[in-house]
Order: sequence, then structure tokens, then C-alpha cells
Amino acid sequence: MSPDELTAAGLQYAVEGAVATITLNRPDVRNAQHPAMWAGLVRILEGLGEEVRVVVVRGAGGTFSAGLDLGLLDPGRAGEAGSLVTTARKADAEIIDEIGTYQLPFAMLADPRFVSVAVVEQHAIGAGFQLALSCDLRIAAEDARFCMKEPALGLVPDLAGTKPLVEAVGYARALEICATARMVPAAEALSLGLVQQVVPAGELDQATVTLTDALTANFAGAVRATKALLQEAPRRTLDEQRLAERTAQVGRFRELVELMG
Ligand code: CAA
Repeated sequence: MSPDELTAAGLQYAVEGAVATITLNRPDVRNAQHPAMWAGLVRILEGLGEEVRVVVVRGAGGTFSAGLDLGLLDPGRAGEAGSLVTTARKADAEIIDEIGTYQLPFAMLADPRFVSVAVVEQHAIGAGFQLALSCDLRIAAEDARFCMKEPALGLVPDLAGTKPLVEAVGYARALEICATARMVPAAEALSLGLVQQVVPAGELDQATVTLTDALTANFAGAVRATKALLQEAPRRTLDEQRLAERTAQVGRFRELVELMG
């Protein structure tokens, strides 16, 4: 994407070695998300080179994301792309398709080609929480707060966040978090397994580098194949999973023998 296209999408993008960093870049509105941003995320994720092994997602201006741009709920801005007011007038199938398009980048963060890491400061609300949940790992500053605000606005969380939330904290806690739309502070998020690490805000950048270094330190093929195995494990029986492990190891054996010459 060109710099102008990135700006229009409210995004920044940089690749350093094996680490791609995508920054939501609308700090004036707390990195609120809109359809152009989601389309931009799709283009970035589609265009990632083979060298990329870790995708870091973060927000500009010291916060992660305040979720959906609330302007999209404003009847006075019904002409804007993604306006919920305009979308609501369409046929059911069209609405479902449209949301499917919006969900794409969230689903793409599960791609086994890379490990995705959300770096969360201050607010991860609604679509922001769902974006963080769509990443494989979450590292948070002590000031981070997670909130599934949608039910408080008359909506359901529809950006691929409900499944990873249930997988992370279990059905009952997920329901409690969503139905109450309460803020989950970083310390609780850590104890629930919603985030893997919490650090003081001033140490977040260094902690991110330490994590991405560790994630890229081992064999790329082994990490990719392991991610794919772990992702599918909950859906498989033990026998199916054992078969998947054996099958994945074939490729690993071949690569190792080739490396040994
Ligand atoms: N959309 C558009 N603008 C937003 C925004 C959002 N989601 N969140 C914040 N802003 C804007 C504010 O309107 C304000 O703009 P002005 O300077 O022009 O007044 C600016 O960002 C700064 O906001 P605050 O002064 O409120 O900043 P704060 O640091 O005191 O509070 C906050 C931050 C707690 C995130 C608060 O802004 C807030 O509660 N925002 C709304 C959060 C929200 O309800 N998001 C929608 C979630 S639901 C969802 O995402 C739907 C879905 O997935 C289906």
C-alpha cells in the first residue's frame, strides 16, 4: 500500500527483519476502527512476504483501540461507508456478507505463516478487544483495559472475537464479561489467561522486542507447523491429533535432513 493509502486507512505499517508491525493510526479518535481500516489490514496481511514470521498489532498515541468508530452509528452520517444505519436497510443476506468482509482481517491474523501479537495499552474496547483477541498472543501494559462494549450499544460482538474469548476464559466468564460490558483490567486479564504478559507501560516496547526475538529465534518451519497443530487440536480427537503430529513431522524430518546435507 502507498503511504497515502495507508493514511486513508488510518494505518501505519513497517517490516523489520522477520517482524511486521501494523499500527492503528487514528490517535485523535483513540484508533477507532472503520471499514477502510479493515480493508487496509486485509491488503497488508495479504501482501506479507515469506520472511515475515511475527505480526505485531498495536495502536498509536498510547492506546490500542476504542473500537468501532461511533460515527458509523450516527444517523446524520448515514452516507459514509460502513454506516450501520445504511447497512440496516439492506437485505439480510447482504448485511451478513458485508459483515463477513469486515471480519476478514480478524480471521487472517490466525494464519499459521506467522504468530500475531497484540500489544495493548489503555483501551481495547469492542472491535479493539476483538482485534486483540484475534491475535495469537496478547501483551499488555498495566494500564490496559478490555471491554466487550457491544451489548451496551445493542449489538453483538461480530468481528470474530467471541470464539477466542470463550477459548481463553471459558463460556461462563466470557458471558459475564460480554453481558455486563464491564472493563477487565490488565491484572485480571492476566489471571484469566486473556493476556500472556503484563508489564509497566514504560517497559512495553522492550517487552515486545524481547517477545518477538524469542518468537523468531527458532526454526520458522517448525514454529509454523506447531501453530497449525495447536490451532486445530481442540477440534480433533486424540487419534486425529496424533496423526496430524506424525504427518507434520514428515516435513520437519525432511527439512532437517536437507539442512544436515
Ligand atoms: N469512535 C469515534 N470517536 C471516538 C471513539 C470511537 N469509538 N472513541 C473515542 N473517540 C473520540 C472522542 O469522541 C474524542 O473526540 P473529540 O476529541 O473530538 O471530543 C476523542 O476520541 C478522545 O476521546 P475521549 O476524550 O473520550 O478520550 P478518553 O481517553 O477520555 O476515553 C475511551 C477513551 C474510554 C476509549 C472513550 O473515548 C470511549 O469510551 N470511547 C467509546 C468506546 C466505544 O463505545 N466504542 C465502541 C465499542 S462497540 C464496537 O466496537 C462495535 C463492534 O465491534 C460491533
